[in-house]
Amino acid sequence: MTGLGPWHSERLIYRAVEPEDEPILLSMSSDPEAFSNSAPFLPQPRSKKSATQHRGWLEGALISAMMCLPPPTSASQDNTALNPIPVGLVHLHGSDARLAHHRHGDIGINVLRQYQGQGYGTEAIKWVLYWGFQYAGLHRIELGAFEYNPGAVKLYQRIGFVPEGKKRAWIWFNGRYWDLHIFSMLEHEWREKFGSE
Ligand SMILES: CC(C)(COP(=O)(O)OP(=O)(O)OC[C@H]1O[C@@H](n2cnc3c(N)ncnc32)[C@H](O)[C@@H]1OP(=O)(O)O)[C@@H](O)C(=O)NCCC(=O)NCCS
Repeated sequence: MTGLGPWHSERLIYRAVEPEDEPILLSMSSDPEAFSNSAPFLPQPRSKKSATQHRGWLEGALISAMMCLPPPTSASQDNTALNPIPVGLVHLHGSDARLAHHRHGDIGINVLRQYQGQGYGTEAIKWVLYWGFQYAGLHRIELGAFEYNPGAVKLYQRIGFVPEGKKRAWIWFNGRYWDLHIFSMLEHEWREKFGSE
């Protein structure tokens, strides 16, 4: 990872979230399944204003980045074709100043539907773990997955997050309560698992 620099992983480039990305943020939150899988908010049609608010919230993260594929290599006179292609969003929120000494981080991720199942989520989570432990000096990185999102539960375990348990009947969704599964990775666990990569 080190040789590639902090803004790349094997296949992905990471860049800042810009105002021009708001339509992509809107399309993510307008996918009802992806929205309900990634946030506990009431499902509802999303407005352009909500995308602006989302971007504002992302500005408060330790890091938030658009996950992008490199532009196609074929020579093109069309400059827009030379821009990296966004495939998703990854962010790592820290704590406010009075809690920062605990050095906790919390990952969120959303891969656009057409790019899911191709390993990009795994790659971006590994990259943000690297950034969080190696650059931001975090001690513990956490994420949660709703019971009705078994793909995420499986993915986080496969990456090496430790299941800590669940908050029972935590979220009301689609007519019933579901558990919230909590996962974490500590810095020494990350170094043991990924330190040599
Ligand atoms: C959950 C989420 C982040 C996972 O990202 P993803 O890019 O789809 O995940 P990955 O591709 O890394 O891994 C998922 C599957 O792809 C497979 N995969 C991994 N690398 C692959 C590759 N190079 N080519 C093809 N498939 C691959 C994995 O084996 C896995 O399959 P399995 O679970 O059936 O065994 C994504 O589906 C998503 O954004 N969902 C909507 C929002 C959401 O749920 N966010 C998380 C909230 S907790």
